[in-house]
Amino acid sequence: MADTQALQNPLRDEQRLPRVPDPGVMVIFGASGDLTSRKLVPALYELASQRRLPLEMAVVGISRTEMSHEEFRQKLRETLEEHVSGGVSDDVWDSFAGGIFYLPGDSKEPETYEELKGFLKKLDAERGTLGNRAFYLSASPSLFPTIVGRLGEAGMNEGEDGGWSRLVVEKPFGRDLESARELNDEIRRHFDEAQIYRIDHYLGKETVQNILALRFANGIFEPIWNQHYVDHVQITVAEDIGVGTRGAFYEEAGALRDIVQNHVMQVLCLTAMEPPVAFDAESLREEKVKVLKAVRPIPEDGVEEYAVRGQYTSGWVWGEEVAGYREEENVGPDSVTETYLALRLFVDNWRWAGVPFFLRAGKRMPKKATEVAIQFHSSPHTPFARDDTEGLEPNVLVVRVQPDEGLSLKIGAKVPGAGFEVSSVNMDLLYGTAFLEEAPDAYQRLLLDLMLGDPTLFIRADEAEGAWRILDPVMRRWAEEKKVEFYPAGAWGPREADELLGRDGREWRRP
Ligand code: BG6
Repeated sequence: MADTQALQNPLRDEQRLPRVPDPGVMVIFGASGDLTSRKLVPALYELASQRRLPLEMAVVGISRTEMSHEEFRQKLRETLEEHVSGGVSDDVWDSFAGGIFYLPGDSKEPETYEELKGFLKKLDAERGTLGNRAFYLSASPSLFPTIVGRLGEAGMNEGEDGGWSRLVVEKPFGRDLESARELNDEIRRHFDEAQIYRIDHYLGKETVQNILALRFANGIFEPIWNQHYVDHVQITVAEDIGVGTRGAFYEEAGALRDIVQNHVMQVLCLTAMEPPVAFDAESLREEKVKVLKAVRPIPEDGVEEYAVRGQYTSGWVWGEEVAGYREEENVGPDSVTETYLALRLFVDNWRWAGVPFFLRAGKRMPKKATEVAIQFHSSPHTPFARDDTEGLEPNVLVVRVQPDEGLSLKIGAKVPGAGFEVSSVNMDLLYGTAFLEEAPDAYQRLLLDLMLGDPTLFIRADEAEGAWRILDPVMRRWAEEKKVEFYPAGAWGPREADELLGRDGREWRRP
């Protein structure tokens, strides 16, 4: 069962060379879903067009809808244009599409797996896919344990003829700590940890990875990245969109399960972790887990001091009037599901003792903005007249994850003219102008790493559980009190979220 390619990570020393994986098949469960046509196939197509995939690579879609191989290809082709940059080349598509196949089947039934197994063997013989398989779980999460069990029973938890077998698990990974543990146990009954790729697309984003580059490729930031110099940290994942057609999913998930447990917690880990000894899967993930372990547990009877649950009502976004969450399709008229969540966390370790981390994620905010802001202590003493420093704010280093990817540092500077007025100005770096290459979509990076057997940017079992452990008391309390604070669409969250910081004498930034 061991995936030795992943364990030894033989490519570590060769990372500067373009890496092309061995031939293999990616099997997608839930292939008629949105993720396949919006993200997975466009990412694979882009990789194929950059010749980052072997020509023998194959994709097999499985779901219950009856479709022929050709109909499946056609369906993917129709929407591809919308999801790739720079248009679709017919030549690249024809060659790529020749490796796309479809099997209609019920993922609960053992026969589906027997058929799949035979089909994959046929592909090995006809296309040269070498017995290598990656199984991508993009079906409904309630089916994950069944699919994993059936793959194991059919012996597909091992590659054919010495090939490898890997399993990709989409989020949400469980609903809480207990269900995440059960899912981990079930998966590990059939697959080794080295074969499991729990995916969080935020880790595939260039600018999220750049948090590590900023911290560990520069000598000047790390010495001040601690409680001696940092006053507090703010992590924001704001979106201007509402829940759209995903009301039914959102009613089940809410912002906590949809975005905070995974994306926001990952950004927190990268911001707060200690330097890893090497940039490899075990070293990096070990340090992330330590951050999660150090987060001060939230007491169930004092949740309001640490978390605020918000929901948008009708309002205006970008000059357009939009409906409230409760009026969205498939949402209950008295739903208390959160579309916004603010957290105040403490990472109780030597580096961060006493530094609050304020985290927020929300839909229907004024704009899309994901950023990490490190606010430093004010200078201990300014020799200038009080009137001259009214426009002076503390130094803030902002990593803009999206959009306008880049960095800015707020510094105090002299205002031109007589006297000595000082004010805050921003030093700005825009990645778009510093590097001419366009950043690839997160899924491109992650699917390539998957095929290469590099799990560095995927989530380890204890990370998923560690993030749930922090949030479990909040979920339990909310389930009991059934209460939510409202904010009008187009606002930066409910008033209570401002009070969460106000109590500590801080304010949310306006990205
Ligand atoms: C997804 C969530 O994981 O991330 C969505 O399910 C959210 O609700 C999306 O809109 C945000 O991703 P990105 O890449 O647009 O920041």
